[in-house]
Amino acid sequence: MDAIQIYGGNCLKGEVKIQGSKNMALPVLAATLLINGTCEIENCPVISDVHHMLRLLKSLCCDIERKNHTLIINSQSFSCNDMPSDSVGVMRSSLTLLGALLSRAGSVYMQYPGGCVIGQRPIDLHLDALRRMGVDIEEKEDGFVAQTKGLTGAIHNLPFVSVGATENIILAAVLAKGNTIIENAAKEPEIGALCEFLNKAGADITGAGSRRIVIHGVEKLHEVSYRVPADRIVAGTYLAGCLCSGGEVFLKEAPCGQMDAVIDAASNMGADIKRYKEGLRVKCDKRRKALPRLCTESYPAFPTDLQSAFLAALTLADGRSVIKEEIFENRFRIVPELQKMGACISCDGHTAIVDGVDKLNAATLYANELRGGAALILAGCAADGETIVCNRHFVERGYEDICADLRALGVRCKKLD
Ligand code: UD1
Repeated sequence: MDAIQIYGGNCLKGEVKIQGSKNMALPVLAATLLINGTCEIENCPVISDVHHMLRLLKSLCCDIERKNHTLIINSQSFSCNDMPSDSVGVMRSSLTLLGALLSRAGSVYMQYPGGCVIGQRPIDLHLDALRRMGVDIEEKEDGFVAQTKGLTGAIHNLPFVSVGATENIILAAVLAKGNTIIENAAKEPEIGALCEFLNKAGADITGAGSRRIVIHGVEKLHEVSYRVPADRIVAGTYLAGCLCSGGEVFLKEAPCGQMDAVIDAASNMGADIKRYKEGLRVKCDKRRKALPRLCTESYPAFPTDLQSAFLAALTLADGRSVIKEEIFENRFRIVPELQKMGACISCDGHTAIVDGVDKLNAATLYANELRGGAALILAGCAADGETIVCNRHFVERGYEDICADLRALGVRCKKLD
């Protein structure tokens, strides 16, 4: 049935280990194409986006072995074949392969990438940047052909911050001839992870985590092992779950250092949060305060990927909250579903106004994208009675087993097949 059934209404209580990060794992997997030798990647989440990325790498003749959360990847028998269109179409991260593929093969046909239906998500920044690095790109109806006689370093001044474009430039630049500078680069921890992986393999990248990244092209990269850090968005999701339902949870391995804006927002809602080396303890009673202004922006500000989870929690807060979504235009698609539960929300373009209600009613809900789907599950945990969230597959793109995690926090829930 592709759904999740939740009997909600109880406080969360317990401990859960936070999985490896999806948005760190995907570009690192794309980067294995650049490496001359074997890559061992530990703590890689078992999620459908990773499955699709591995399928794409296999279609390019990479050897892949998987033992639970550890992947051994060797791209020495690489061949630039057509990639399965359903895997390219399902996730935007397939685009991250572009820079690496051009570096490896010089010529690529790629259909336009898919991903969550949370906005237009154009790819102009990626294509413009690659053109500056010596790539000819011919755009067609369904995709584009990109070709280069050799990538060359360039200076990029990004007109606005883009995580994916920053990653693609880095991947194109590490083995390019000469130096590349990215001004107005994304500062997201995912960029830091990619650069750490590449530098471990012999790349020469400085400035990750700042707005200016400098890449000196090197001749080749060598084999490497790397552990994918924990997922700040999954940790933030369960933190928001505690805001929705109340209770006390320990989020083992949560990357506290990457979660300042999220922890600040939750503290302002009245949660008591303690950071430890081992993770994050969150305690919250059911008297949540509204947030007069919650605005999503690029890191280190509050992440767009947690906007829906906090929106769900704010439906139960005391007073009026205003949420401004500055990154993606369609990120309020869960609003009609939350309204079915009795939430009081009105939206106007990039702004949602939320007037807190005393309780949410259980309902049958439809997820239509990854993070919004997770937020509906959290709302179900807070509502008395049986909630069904349909279209579980969207959530499985990014959460290994959200039901098992929530059960560890005391929620009665299960997958319905
Ligand atoms: C990544 C994350 C996603 C997160 C987002 C913002 C992955 C796999 N996904 O997505 O979870 O929500 O960062 O933190 O890591 N844009 C353009 N032209 C472009 C590229 C982007 O206009 O060529 C726009 C987008 O439509 C959006 C904004 O730039 O409005 C930021 O998008 P970007 O940072 O590129 O997001 P992604 O890398 O796709």
